Amino acid sequence: MTRVLITGGAGFIGSSLGEALLKQGVRVVSVDNVNNFYNPQLKKANIQRLSEYPGFESIEADIRNQTEIDGAFDSSHVDVVVHLAAMAGVRPSIEQPRLYYDVNVNGTFNVLDACARYRPKKVVLGSSSSVYGNNKTVPFSESDNVDRPISPYAATKKMNEIMAYNMHHLHGVPICCCRFFTVYGPYQRPEMAIHKFTRMILNDEPIPVYNFGNCERDYTYIDDIVQGLLSIMETPFEFDVVNLGGSATITTSALIDRIGAACRKSPIIHMMPAQVGDVDATHANIDHAKRVYGYNPRVEIHQGVKRFVEWFQCQSVVR
Ligand SMILES: NC(=O)c1ccc[n+]([C@@H]2O[C@H](COP(=O)([O-])OP(=O)(O)OC[C@H]3O[C@@H](n4cnc5c(N)ncnc54)[C@H](O)[C@@H]3O)[C@@H](O)[C@H]2O)c1
Repeated sequence: MTRVLITGGAGFIGSSLGEALLKQGVRVVSVDNVNNFYNPQLKKANIQRLSEYPGFESIEADIRNQTEIDGAFDSSHVDVVVHLAAMAGVRPSIEQPRLYYDVNVNGTFNVLDACARYRPKKVVLGSSSSVYGNNKTVPFSESDNVDRPISPYAATKKMNEIMAYNMHHLHGVPICCCRFFTVYGPYQRPEMAIHKFTRMILNDEPIPVYNFGNCERDYTYIDDIVQGLLSIMETPFEFDVVNLGGSATITTSALIDRIGAACRKSPIIHMMPAQVGDVDATHANIDHAKRVYGYNPRVEIHQGVKRFVEWFQCQSVVR
């Protein structure tokens, strides 16, 4: 593996993976349109961070534009493609479903179509635990039926997995779909729970807590996700779907207590009913990832929250 193209390379997971690869001496090409879903300065800062390493190239391109994507593949000669560019997030997908379908389905088609023609040695695709919807069997296994998405975002991620299988079937390019379970840590998207709660607690703002704090989530520390992705990239596969989670859950209320403790502040809580599209709980069965890819998440939520708060307090741009 000498050259890796990461779509969404300016984002949270993409830049964290990119930095880990660059540290190993792997050449990294980021393809990202640096959109304003959240503060683009954060994405530009991620690109700047990666630009400190030799072997990094950033291409500003939109995955919805086939010509731009082909241009990026043309100039890159990549061994591995990691496709992470997407409109992320459940709640905004309910407000802007057309945008989510356009980017996540049509854009992913362009990336997969380019993979079919340029034939990298393997492709890794960012899917999501949201495909499980309100799955009744806990923890969630890759063999569970995922035909009942409860948000447009989840529907697009399930579609991406089906499109990936079809590309593999027709063109033989190996592809592994990774179902990430709520990833957090330094450089996390600012609208995501741990980042948002930390900011609000430190600013003494009241936190709207949906489903009266009873939602349960399997939070996964970014370093564990990056290690999982690196292991997958090193392991042979043909077509696969794999859960990458922390394999432990915490309620929103307990999470906020932990963040409050790490910030040394008392959170101001404003309890609210559940929001449409939100699942009650996520919990990953990671047996497959452990057995096949040696995946081994190490960072427990109390350590991860502490590390995140320490990182956050050193940032100026994120507030
Ligand atoms: N963070 C999580 O907890 C989580 C959980 C499940 C799945 N995922 C998936 O992992 C991937 C990365 O998520 P993230 O948290 O790093 O999000 P992110 O928003 O930080 O990164 C996504 C990147 O894709 C780029 N992008 C969006 N639309 C694009 C387009 N049309 N053309 C080119 N680039 C575009 C964005 O500018 C952004 O930099 C996404 O596919 C997301 O759906 C993330």
